[in-house]
Amino acid sequence: MSLQYSSGDIFSFPTIGDERGSLISLESEKNIPFKIARVYYIFDTANGVSRGFHAHKRLEQILICVSGSCEVVLDDGHQKKQVNLSDPSYGLYIGSDCWRVMKSFSKDCVLLVLASSHYDESDYIRNYDDFLSYLKER
Ligand code: TYD
Repeated sequence: MSLQYSSGDIFSFPTIGDERGSLISLESEKNIPFKIARVYYIFDTANGVSRGFHAHKRLEQILICVSGSCEVVLDDGHQKKQVNLSDPSYGLYIGSDCWRVMKSFSKDCVLLVLASSHYDESDYIRNYDDFLSYLKER
């Protein structure tokens, strides 16, 4: 696990641009602080929908809004932090033990997520009270 990073940290990715446009390259354990095991993207989100409402026990992720915009609310059980994602050259790091809600998706939003592990439902905490209990037990 990338212990030197905290949920809410913002990664800035250099844009390689020329007269044709822009390109950003993401590489495991280089500008992404973990081995990328999974990539998924959220798009075509229905108007007014919020997603997430869970924490992970071990998973690390970087969220990049490659098109449009959305808001991410991070909650460590004590404090909430809201981050606006609207620029494909920035990535939001979310580590373990962090409750997250994604909301205010623009119609054209494509939220790209890089994850450190394969999909594993047993790594999820999907109930907020269970999340608070889990934090207390640790
Ligand atoms: P869900 O966790 O509800 O998405 P969100 O956190 O964005 O609200 O996932 C929706 C469905 O997709 C759920 O049935 C689990 C499944 N899923 C996968 O099969 N693989 C994945 O990598 C992810 C993220 C979800």
